[in-house]
Amino acid sequence: MDKLAIHGGVRLKGEVTVSGAKNAALPVMAASILAPGEHNIYNIPDLRDITTMGKLLAHLGMGYHQENEEVILQSNNISSIEAPYDFVKTMRASVLVLGPLLARMGETKVSLPGGCAIGARPINLHIMGLEKMGATFTLTDGYIHAKAKKLRGATICFDIPTVTGTENLMMAATLADGLTVLENAACEPEVMDLANALISMGADIEGAGTNLIRINGVTSLKPLNYRIVPDRIETGTFITAAAITGGEILINSCNPVHSDAFINKMKDAGVSIEAKDSQLLVKGPDKIIAEDIKTMPYPGFPTDMQAQFMALMTIAEGSSLITESIFENRFMHVAEMRRMGANIKVEGSTATVKGVKSLKGAQVMATDLRASASLVLAGLAAGGETVIDRVYHIDRGYERIEEKLKMLGAKIRRIR
Ligand code: EPU
Repeated sequence: MDKLAIHGGVRLKGEVTVSGAKNAALPVMAASILAPGEHNIYNIPDLRDITTMGKLLAHLGMGYHQENEEVILQSNNISSIEAPYDFVKTMRASVLVLGPLLARMGETKVSLPGGCAIGARPINLHIMGLEKMGATFTLTDGYIHAKAKKLRGATICFDIPTVTGTENLMMAATLADGLTVLENAACEPEVMDLANALISMGADIEGAGTNLIRINGVTSLKPLNYRIVPDRIETGTFITAAAITGGEILINSCNPVHSDAFINKMKDAGVSIEAKDSQLLVKGPDKIIAEDIKTMPYPGFPTDMQAQFMALMTIAEGSSLITESIFENRFMHVAEMRRMGANIKVEGSTATVKGVKSLKGAQVMATDLRASASLVLAGLAAGGETVIDRVYHIDRGYERIEEKLKMLGAKIRRIR
């Protein structure tokens, strides 16, 4: 298992380019199931989760080829309707094939995901929505077996906005009979990107990016020729890297609008951020001001930036309250940060972070994707050496993280 070793204390300086968004690329790849033909998707990050999705599509009988930032998928023949446990346990987003397979094949068997490191993460809302559209579900041997000769439009109200749930239903509804209305839908930029990709395939979708999405079913779709949006979480992570090291970074190829809530909070914390088109110039302050946050669905503060923000707050002046309202167990990084000298107390869904003068390098363990990014950030700020174990988590969602940080002057190396 690879480790990352970081010698902290270097002010990062230079330019970095953001990759395509993992959480937009995954559903767009799944959308290729909906239309036969050759699909070309651009600005795809080179990540483990992307490869897993590609292999899953190949398992379904599709052609999958990845070269540089392009993925080519061939979906003329789909020979299997099953998403096996091995894929779903490796990556929960495998469940994104549920809606498209049901729409195109009229039947699918998808392994039911178990709990994960950050929470229980059920998929009851995906199932509820598809049932409303006429699908029937049975559970056997840990697999959900869904059938629907032809899905029909329905009005579906989510009691909680769900990102992949909204995406699954939106994809299924593109080929259903009649109108589907999704109420209290997720508004995340990744949902909007999927909608734009589907519209480019010929789908009739209105309102994506708001909490009310209307999809009029069409009889067929054409293959994808689509470019994925920049990754707002990678963008936020680099903003934090500049802030936590007191450095100065120019971030290229990003979409500042998608990071609005996060950028505003960072400005409140004393970080200087100037946005221009697809660039952000970030200057870390000498003193970081403690700020409270509560994670919320988009456009609120993203749960996927909570751990990284906490890393910054560990060395802020004052106390910060960090409330996680999306997932019930997303504080696994706290115990690791404490090993580096952070002063953090957790009570229920709120962590109180009392800023300390400095962090000290230590051996720590990554527990999930964003937690591992937060430990890299803490390591960049800490005195001495930090060694992060189980970095396969970070490889799922950050493209060439150590190379990009090295280009900014970080002393980071991978131990294989
Ligand atoms: N939920 C239910 N029932 C459902 C679906 C969701 O109760 O059927 C609950 C979840 O348990 C959670 C809340 O609703 O408490 C929101 O979960 P959501 O469904 O929105 O999360 P997700 O679609 O599984 C995506 C991202 C996550 C990101 C969340 C929240 C992808 C592939 N994953 O997950 O990304 O944290 O939205 O924004 O898009 C990551 O990249 O590190 C990551 C975990």
